[in-house]
Amino acid sequence: MNKHFHVRYDEQQLAWLYFDAADTTTNVLTEEALEEFDQQLLGIAQARPKGLVILSAKKSGFIAGADVKAFATIHSPEAAKKLILRAHDIFHRLEALPFPSVALIHGFCLGGGLELALACRYRVASTDPATRLGFPEVRLGIFPGFGGSVRSIQLLGHLPAMQMMLSAHSLSAKAAKRIHLVDYAVPQRQLKNTARKLIEEQPPRHRPGLLQRIPGNFVLRPAVARILAKQVAKRVRQSHYPAPYALITHWRQNAGNTAQMYASEAQQVSSLLTGETAQNLIRVFLLQDRLKGLAEKSSFQAKQVHVIGGGIMGGDIAAWCILRGLKVTLQDRAPEYLGHAIARAHSLFRKKLRDHYLVQDAMDRLLPDHLGEGVGKADLVIEAIFEDIDAKQTLYEKVEPQMKETALLATNTSSIPLEKLAEKLQHPPRLIGLHFFNPVAKMPLVEIVTQEDNPPQLIADATRFTKAIGKLPLPVKSRPGFLVNRVLMPYLLEAVTLLQEGISAADIDEAAIRFGMPMGPVELADTVGLDICLSVAEKLSETLHNEVPENLRNKVEAGHLGKKSGQGFFTWSKGKAQKEAASALEDKLNHYADRMILRLINESMACLREAIVEDADLLDAGIIFGTGFAPFRGGPMHYADKIGKTEILSKLGKLEYTYGSRFTPDPGWEDHFAK
Ligand code: NAI
Repeated sequence: MNKHFHVRYDEQQLAWLYFDAADTTTNVLTEEALEEFDQQLLGIAQARPKGLVILSAKKSGFIAGADVKAFATIHSPEAAKKLILRAHDIFHRLEALPFPSVALIHGFCLGGGLELALACRYRVASTDPATRLGFPEVRLGIFPGFGGSVRSIQLLGHLPAMQMMLSAHSLSAKAAKRIHLVDYAVPQRQLKNTARKLIEEQPPRHRPGLLQRIPGNFVLRPAVARILAKQVAKRVRQSHYPAPYALITHWRQNAGNTAQMYASEAQQVSSLLTGETAQNLIRVFLLQDRLKGLAEKSSFQAKQVHVIGGGIMGGDIAAWCILRGLKVTLQDRAPEYLGHAIARAHSLFRKKLRDHYLVQDAMDRLLPDHLGEGVGKADLVIEAIFEDIDAKQTLYEKVEPQMKETALLATNTSSIPLEKLAEKLQHPPRLIGLHFFNPVAKMPLVEIVTQEDNPPQLIADATRFTKAIGKLPLPVKSRPGFLVNRVLMPYLLEAVTLLQEGISAADIDEAAIRFGMPMGPVELADTVGLDICLSVAEKLSETLHNEVPENLRNKVEAGHLGKKSGQGFFTWSKGKAQKEAASALEDKLNHYADRMILRLINESMACLREAIVEDADLLDAGIIFGTGFAPFRGGPMHYADKIGKTEILSKLGKLEYTYGSRFTPDPGWEDHFAK
């Protein structure tokens, strides 16, 4: 049964075990692959080679991790534990081989993949930028469960290993070498020779020094654990994300006793895996995969992009496309408008690329082009000029005849219906929306805004482009606010209404953060800019049946625009909102959270009923990746399904009675819950 692995023996009596998972481009440790790996190890052990080298036959990398898809189908801790104990057995067998073993790592080596590598005697990684080693498990609500929480500590020492697992950050080969996670970091072409040399010379395995061993001493451990928990608490709450806290407890109670560590790892990870947080985070991971999968219906490849409008959005979209390897011409009304965009791009390249030559190469691919000479050469034209119908229409009339026939024409409009913008085009259906979010470098989602007449191939091509530049594409219909702004706005407006009622900004933000939002709504509104919030609120007020709150209008009229002007609902100093501590009691905070979150959920239902997106899962994906909506809750519709019809409708009913029609339950709920 050689489905996923094949082994070759060379004349120096080395066994080269290639992982080449069947029917996929990425190596993942499925249950089937693990079983075959075990069989292969048995065969190799019998052949008694001088050494074993484990490597990948895939371009995409070594091993991306365990099978996250299968995690979603495990419902009992017992089933999870069975799988984990089986992986423990197999990796113990690898570790106990009587000859040296080496993991040859090029590309991704994550999660279960890194755990497999840790069970080898040595590790060699390529210095290629694609090589990343890490434990992303806490992002999925678990911690390393295939022996990784034990072996990483044995190899690296207590603090480096714990920090790696708690942070979920991945490392380059050189950084991995620095902490002794790999024995050598070498250029890709030297990987195999380095493995041969290691097997030949068999140097002693790295052992952590005294300094790295001390924090694990049983007298010090409780104090160190408290410090680690404090650091984690700055980022996440235990009630929302239990995994990092469980990892610290597991370490505090068992470090120092290897057998106990393995047993506790299996116990803890199986109970975390089947808990609500992990299952929701796994759902989010799979939703992300689904968004990426939407790009598979096209083979469109853009090499050159022309961006019109070098303001906040156009400039940043251009810079982002450059970072992803494209050539970009950037147009504005006159050369002097492009200076800011080019300077911002330069500082982004320096931050992301670091290397001087890479930065120079990036700058060489970004061409200021105020005359629009790049239009005729581009595979895709993205318009990001002022939000003004006439200006945009006039621009398209000029640009369309110069474009290649096969090129895509996209707008970054945030509020104008596409049908309206396309009116004066020779071929109106060729216009599509690529709605990026601000700040472009940080926001993972791009809404692919579609009009009724867009050919399906165009939608597929725009989706493909979005994935190719490393963003998550979500097709949505061209209705006011599209999906994300439409759902986010009622939530923000409710926060502004609470402010108007005299509730403190600190309490409002605390209520939302307790629910699990990454940032409070008042701080978010200040960060986005109150002028932008006001303009979106005005455009959506009819759709949302929501009058624009007076205090929002007053702030903008007074020039208090938020973070950018130093004063909004908060006063800002050195880029930080000056917040007092929240003081409201638990009950009150829950009530404020209900008001804001239920508006967001009710509007989500309205969008689903109006088929703005295809289904509830895609809606959840859009709101999580477009707004940061509490990922551990699995998305607004998933959360609504969990709390159920009775609670949703009764809470909305009570709020409607007290606060009026903005809380009227959407007519879609009855049908939704009848399904
Ligand atoms: P901005 O005001 O920062 O930049 C607009 C740029 O377009 C200016 O540099 C201006 O000189 C240039 N421009 C105007 N007319 C032009 C023309 N005829 N030819 C060439 N260049 C021209 O605006 P921003 O914020 O970048 O917005 C651009 C578009 O992106 C708008 O449609 C907006 O609705 C949308 N958007 C904005 C977001 C934001 O947070 N700012 C978020 C998502 C979309």
